[in-house]
Amino acid sequence: MQKQDIDRILAELDALSCKTQKEVEEARVRFLGKKGSITALFDEFRTVDKDLKKEFGRPLNELKQTAQTKIESLKESIGGEGAAEVPGIDMSMPGDTMELGSRHPVSIVRQEIVDIFRKFGYDVAEGPEVEDDYHVFEALNFPPNHPARDMQDTFFVSSGHPNPLLLRTHTSSVQVRTMEKMGLPIRVICPGRVFRNEAISARAHCIFHQVEGLYIDENVTFADLRQAILLFAREMFGPETQIRMRPSYFPFTEPSAEVDVSCNICHGKGCNICKGTGWLEILGCGMVDPNVLEASGIDSKKYSGFAFGMGLERIAMLKWRVNDLRHYFENDMRFLEEFATSVKEF
Ligand code: DAH
Repeated sequence: MQKQDIDRILAELDALSCKTQKEVEEARVRFLGKKGSITALFDEFRTVDKDLKKEFGRPLNELKQTAQTKIESLKESIGGEGAAEVPGIDMSMPGDTMELGSRHPVSIVRQEIVDIFRKFGYDVAEGPEVEDDYHVFEALNFPPNHPARDMQDTFFVSSGHPNPLLLRTHTSSVQVRTMEKMGLPIRVICPGRVFRNEAISARAHCIFHQVEGLYIDENVTFADLRQAILLFAREMFGPETQIRMRPSYFPFTEPSAEVDVSCNICHGKGCNICKGTGWLEILGCGMVDPNVLEASGIDSKKYSGFAFGMGLERIAMLKWRVNDLRHYFENDMRFLEEFATSVKEF
């Protein structure tokens, strides 16, 4: 090894100029690649004796440093122009456009319902999707052998103990959690996802969405419930909308009712959506059963309240006349794009 070898390469580096990234890469290989001239000097360096090592170690490292810096600066100074010469890439071509997505119909309906009840002074409450038996059934006055607790309806996460974990089958569980932790009076709606072990069809799915409502105060009556639902229905389906209530049964409300709205498609004349009746069922509701109030520590002598629950997919189906529930879950762009502009219109 000789001093001239190092000087010669330094001079070559000094004179080096490149026009394209390809030339820079070739120069890098020539100097620093596996068979490059600097690499060869390092190989040679390994075999020289101790005295020479002292003499050449430092200049050799400096040489390598100089080469790396030079290559880097050439790479940067050529920049994109050189890249344009990479075969197959034409930097002057227009880029791919990114399409904007739109909100899902179920989200649109949920937001509308939340906005309507916010105007009436309701807060929004949420609860866990993985719940326990107590909050989904027991605190809601479900009798011990009620079929809703059966394996056929409920997805259990754990079993074999008195309060198993499960996927909530309705958002009524959030009522219980709200009563447990919120001071009175209570005025909340609870939107959320629910799960039932159902065969998937045009009318049923194992995952769907509900909105629960709960109002508890002194002197709340069935008339208040009826008025709240009527105002909601008119905001949601138009100012001409009528409602009717039919007696029903839910373990957690007494009395209970199901609510129909006048069919806004045929306006009562009878069509295939309302099956000729002029009415469409939209929700279940009732006065909160005193047992449910007491289970969450609320004095049922002093307080009363009402609750209601509705399926979001069902409301969305009525709103947009969608005839198959499965459309909501299949992420078919042709279906989803239909809702891109319908956020506020109805
Ligand atoms: N939880 C009921 C269901 O999933 C819906 C419901 C009915 C909720 C009546 C209520 C109610 O709060 O009062 O079918």
